[in-house]
Amino acid sequence: MSSIPSIKLNTGASIPAIGLGGFSSDPNIADSEKWFLTAFQAGYRHIDTAQIYRTEPYVGAAVRASGLPRGDVFVTTKLPWHHTKDVARSFDDSLRSLGLDYVDLYLMHFPQSVEYPTGYDGPSTFEEVITTLKAVDTPTFNETWAEMEKLSTSRTRAIGVSNFSIKTLKQLLKTAKVVPAVNQIEIHPYLAQTELLEYCRKKGIAVTAYSPSGHEKVRNDPTIMALAAKYGVSPTQIILAWHVARGVSAVPKSAHPERQKKNVNLPALSAEDVASVTALDRNERIVNKLGPDGKLYGWTAEQYGWN
Ligand SMILES: NC(=O)c1ccc[n+]([C@@H]2O[C@H](COP(=O)([O-])OP(=O)(O)OC[C@H]3O[C@@H](n4cnc5c(N)ncnc54)[C@H](OP(=O)(O)O)[C@@H]3O)[C@@H](O)[C@H]2O)c1
Repeated sequence: MSSIPSIKLNTGASIPAIGLGGFSSDPNIADSEKWFLTAFQAGYRHIDTAQIYRTEPYVGAAVRASGLPRGDVFVTTKLPWHHTKDVARSFDDSLRSLGLDYVDLYLMHFPQSVEYPTGYDGPSTFEEVITTLKAVDTPTFNETWAEMEKLSTSRTRAIGVSNFSIKTLKQLLKTAKVVPAVNQIEIHPYLAQTELLEYCRKKGIAVTAYSPSGHEKVRNDPTIMALAAKYGVSPTQIILAWHVARGVSAVPKSAHPERQKKNVNLPALSAEDVASVTALDRNERIVNKLGPDGKLYGWTAEQYGWN
């Protein structure tokens, strides 16, 4: 088992290769503070949240309760897609919710701007977040990024994007003054994203995998199960070790202390085994995929730049 490495960002800072995912589908959202705290106790030093997840207050509370120096913890949060007209105000709201003076990374959560009937404050449940949105043409992600570039670097140590493809990154880089430090995207063995990883590497953009295990569907794959038996670990540990071997940071979510410990205690896979996991790629989105109307959150595959 190897210790968790860090990945250098284009800002010079480092991001721990494994972080704890901070989205909770549990209606009892305040419980998340407990699992953020057990993650710190298990050795995690990186937490991924977002304003839309509503877990920011519990991440901040756990950082304070952990007793860890603030500089030892890497905190990521994200700009909601319906706040793209109000980047500075939304960022202030996130820092206030977290109760922190700064975040380590602030991501544009999605490339599109959306509006809600309820306006800036948005819907009150996660269900409404995804069912009542209306995609709008402006601000464009180039305009939103220009606003993110204005945020003080003492209050966000790095800025980045999420759910960007080669197509949307190329469009962003036409006007960007700051190259995103990170692109956070869905990656797991059924969606290896090899071309996008290579593009990001060339541009100096680090990649973080979300939904990194690929859920039950990928964890139950026979190749993954066979590798888990070979290394004497769980399928999730095999998949996370594969991300780390590819130089990708990953943010698995677990509310269970035992699983949290396993997920930061990873085997070193042989090059051959890394290749056999990559070979499972089927370009299959499991979490953020198009609906029957050919759209996801108001955008088509073509708008996202998905093959
Ligand atoms: N940027 C974006 O648009 C975006 C989108 C989606 C997600 N994310 C980020 O990615 C994070 C993780 O995403 P995700 O929850 O979809 O995927 P995930 O972390 O791959 O899977 C989480 C699920 O796996 C279970 N699990 C975790 N470790 C396990 C283990 N060792 N053995 C068996 N089961 C295990 C968890 O259950 P238990 O909790 O019960 O252990 C949970 O049900 C989110 O929290 C969020 O931070 C970002």
